[in-house]
Amino acid sequence: MTQDELKNEVAKTALKYITPETIIGVGTGSTANFFIDHLATIKDSIKGAVASSIDTANRLKKNGIRVVNLNDVDEISVYIDGADESDHNLNLIKGGGGALTREKIVAAVSNQFVCIADESKLVESLGKFPLPIEVIPMSANYVKRQIIESIGGSPILREDFITDNGNLILDIHKLEIIDPQNLENYLNNIVGVVTNGLFANRGADILLIGSPNGVNILSRNKN
Ligand code: A5P
Repeated sequence: MTQDELKNEVAKTALKYITPETIIGVGTGSTANFFIDHLATIKDSIKGAVASSIDTANRLKKNGIRVVNLNDVDEISVYIDGADESDHNLNLIKGGGGALTREKIVAAVSNQFVCIADESKLVESLGKFPLPIEVIPMSANYVKRQIIESIGGSPILREDFITDNGNLILDIHKLEIIDPQNLENYLNNIVGVVTNGLFANRGADILLIGSPNGVNILSRNKN
């Protein structure tokens, strides 16, 4: 099976996690796009969707799915989104598409976060995928220096890219992530950082992994 076929299968499986007559959250990226296509087949059974990016909002609308503003809803039953990496405890790296801040907000509001990914995304420890950090434009060089001096790695400004919030992205390469939760908190405390792509404080609750043998289901270990 191709990677796209695996993404498509896992996206289809995610439909099972949707509670009818509720508002759901929809993520960003190629796997989330497959999910939107499947969601279109049951669009009348949900009240609407909160989008994690402008691209996703546009794709939802194109498919006739009602898009609602987060400030107009009190509750999101489930958030369905992809990831760039997941460890076995469902800590994630996200933001390869640059939508990390809105994704993190929608995930925070949602009662359940179901992550959908092909098997290449499941790793023993996070960090091979460069960790995205959204920064206020004027702070980019300061944040870069702070990162190099404190945790190391190699932060590189994402070229020709502006987020939906009008900010820049630094991708930290060559980072060994031993304690995702601590690192998430540490990076968020650097002045100028809007958010970082570690989803550890609020990781996924369920991870659906597409493999040639079918879709495997992993659950987060809540200690
Ligand atoms: C978007 O900013 C990301 O967080 C995506 O969820 C992530 O990059 C996964 O994308 P793919 O489904 O395209 O691999």
